Amino acid sequence: MASFLPRAAPRALRFAARPVLRTPAFRRGFATPPVAEQPPPNFQAKTTHGDIDFHKYIEGSWAILFSHPADFTPVCTTELGAFAKLKGEFEKRGVKMIGLSANDLTQHDQWVNDINEVANTTVSFPIIADADRSVAYLYDMISQDDLDALATKGGIAFTIRAVFVIDPAKKIRLTMLYPASTGRNSSEVLRVIDSLQLGDERGIATPIDWNRGEDVIVPPSVSTEDARKKFGQDNVREVKPYLRFTNVGK
Ligand code: BEZ
Repeated sequence: MASFLPRAAPRALRFAARPVLRTPAFRRGFATPPVAEQPPPNFQAKTTHGDIDFHKYIEGSWAILFSHPADFTPVCTTELGAFAKLKGEFEKRGVKMIGLSANDLTQHDQWVNDINEVANTTVSFPIIADADRSVAYLYDMISQDDLDALATKGGIAFTIRAVFVIDPAKKIRLTMLYPASTGRNSSEVLRVIDSLQLGDERGIATPIDWNRGEDVIVPPSVSTEDARKKFGQDNVREVKPYLRFTNVGK
């Protein structure tokens, strides 16, 4: 990934000193990475909204933690602007937002001004200052290519673009990992939250490309007879004995 760095990236970013490795292993995934259905590791950090204890910040709420490789980089700037504009959509779903980028608070504050200007918005969620990448290592959000290259070529290990969706019981319900070169799809983040929340409320699953309001799937653990009792006699469509659709509205 290091070779992908845009030429315009700040010199400090391209030639930054090799970070201190916080994990004993030298491969992503060796150090008990947070996985679905597990509690997210707790940490204390400085953010653009003051110091936080992560577990206290997310207490009792749905939350997304989304990471960025670096401040003042183009893809990240577009992503932060898009997430900021969707504040109302996340609030409607009861989701607290928190970003992370591998720079310090002074840079974050200057970068937030840029994002607000470029996207014509106001970033109103906190951004964690993870200049030493301690949270990135804790959450296994470091580029494997960079880690492999560190041993032979030195350089910098970038934080990849990760999204962790965490539920009010403090379980990681979904993880997305993207390379630095590919910006995320903010609608997809909302869509998966809709799927998880509706699944929890109504005991259903959601098919490929599903969006709110469309037909959902009766899970295999529920018989067609029970599904008809639950969702309505005329509201279960059996395509195959193992593929049943119903509609539970928006
Ligand atoms: C960016 O455009 O956000 C970016 C690209 C490469 C490395 C890090 C960040």
